[in-house]
Amino acid sequence: MCGIVGYIGKNEKAKDVILKGLERLEYRGYDSAGIAYSLDNKVNIQKENGRVENLKDNICFSKKSNIGIGHTRWATHGRPSKENSHPHKCNKITIVHNGIIENYIELKEELKKLGYTFLSETDTEVACALLDYLYSKTNDMVKAIELFKDKAKGSYAIGALCDDDLNTLYAIKNNSPLIIGIGDNENYIASDVPAILDFTNKYIILEDGEFAKIDSDNIVVYDKENNITNKEIKEFEGNLGDIDKNGYDHFMLKEIYEQPEVTKRMIESYVDQNNDIIKDMPDLSKYKNITIVACGSAMHAGLIGKSLIEEFGNIPVNVEIASEFRYKKLFIDEDTLVIAISQSGETADTLEAVKIANKKGCDTLGIVNVNGSSIARETSKVLYTKAGPEIAVATTKAYSAQNTLLSFIAYSLAKNCKDKDKLAYLNTFLKDLNKLPVLMQEILNNHEEYENIAKEIYDKNDIFFIGRAIDYALCMEGSLKLKEISYIHSEAYPAGELKHGTISLIDEGTPVIGIVTDEKIADKTISNIKEVKSRGANVIYVTTDELNKNGDFYDKKIIIPKTNKLLEPLLTIIPLQLISYYVAKCNKCDIDKPKNLAKSVTVE
Ligand code: G6P
Repeated sequence: MCGIVGYIGKNEKAKDVILKGLERLEYRGYDSAGIAYSLDNKVNIQKENGRVENLKDNICFSKKSNIGIGHTRWATHGRPSKENSHPHKCNKITIVHNGIIENYIELKEELKKLGYTFLSETDTEVACALLDYLYSKTNDMVKAIELFKDKAKGSYAIGALCDDDLNTLYAIKNNSPLIIGIGDNENYIASDVPAILDFTNKYIILEDGEFAKIDSDNIVVYDKENNITNKEIKEFEGNLGDIDKNGYDHFMLKEIYEQPEVTKRMIESYVDQNNDIIKDMPDLSKYKNITIVACGSAMHAGLIGKSLIEEFGNIPVNVEIASEFRYKKLFIDEDTLVIAISQSGETADTLEAVKIANKKGCDTLGIVNVNGSSIARETSKVLYTKAGPEIAVATTKAYSAQNTLLSFIAYSLAKNCKDKDKLAYLNTFLKDLNKLPVLMQEILNNHEEYENIAKEIYDKNDIFFIGRAIDYALCMEGSLKLKEISYIHSEAYPAGELKHGTISLIDEGTPVIGIVTDEKIADKTISNIKEVKSRGANVIYVTTDELNKNGDFYDKKIIIPKTNKLLEPLLTIIPLQLISYYVAKCNKCDIDKPKNLAKSVTVE
């Protein structure tokens, strides 16, 4: 989603820092970009539709700039265009903005009456005019920002410049992430830590309602009540290599290949091998039911979690798409544990769902990848997925790490289980978990097999995924991965439901990926696979070593090595991720930055 980078410094590196920072944020997804920088003590603005790269051609690099703000825009109010892209300038004020000013229509009318005119369709230009108006009345940016916070409703992370003092940069935050980076004789603002990691690893997180006045040497932060406050300085723990491709063609491929390493890291962090327990788990025994809230792939991980927790932990689990949860009648109370799953920890709908659950008196547990993110701070307890920075828009390693934690929760809940069938899996869980990274690597080593499948199916119009129970949850993620990066229409269907309509879409050669990893229903799914095969489908049969069947009901077969039931999804997803990757590659798609998509969706 939109990205913000700002610079103020005696080293006068504004343009270079901002452009580099914007490139670092490209992974978040955007459709236009812009920069405002000081030139001969005036603000100069450059905006372009499309990539950050396009901006560089028209920027004056021969002179230095001590201050600037830059932005990558993912259109919400107004189509992607040069006029609608940021920064916006209104008289003396220039701003970049992430989020949505919800009352911008009323504000626009008021400002029009005061003589303001507008060039774009955006809520941001209205915010800019409002700040300009308040500054014109107060002649003091700090007072103007205080008044702005009272008037503007909605979500905003704003970087602002004022023509009267081009030695000060302002940052304002409410319901949209914003950090301040701390350098030597220079400081930065950014919507996300990777934007500043080339320059510093020290930063401050602004909280909702806070704002800051920043110059080359000083950062003054004001709290919700507009009083000066001291902030904790954080240090980024990873390294810059985490946000480079390290020789891979795409971040997505690199991140798929990082899955064994992430699993090892999670084992090291969470498993007490001597005592056969998962560390850091909340007391799960006190809850009567669990509700999982999440969006996109995180919601698909939630569905895997539901299957494992219900099957092994024996507790009912409800999975809710966070944007739906926010507006429906809820049946949750103190007996409910609400688990919020989010890679970024900033997804607006998931964050709001957590706030609602907190208000209802539920305990909330975050399964989050980004340390210190909003969801991590808002939940009563957080378990980190330790996947490291994930740059490709389409999530892979973070999704797997979410599944790993959900299997830990299911395992912890199931430890008192008396069910003999389940005990066999529980007794071998840790042994199987320790072997998992090696099995993941084995699957990755078979990449040519998946590349060949991709070469066969990449030019088809429709691709179906079918499976039952946990396999259906995997189908949903496999199908999403494929369609989001290759733009090929794809649907995931519960295998038994296909004949109630969708089977009419199966034609000669239509690719159908049939997943069969659950022995209880294997025969049933295979019958459904036969139904599509007999209607001409090109079937790719994905099954486990144990369930492997021969026959004329498939065209290609992918075998998943034997592992523990609680861990199987972590292996089965890898061929699906790689098939999607290679299909998108055959179609020459922009794999890491699929069109219209954003990595972190900070608007409703
Ligand atoms: C966006 C991304 C998806 C992601 C979803 C939830 O839509 O494109 O890949 O699954 O947001 O993101 P989160 O950061 O909350 O996991």
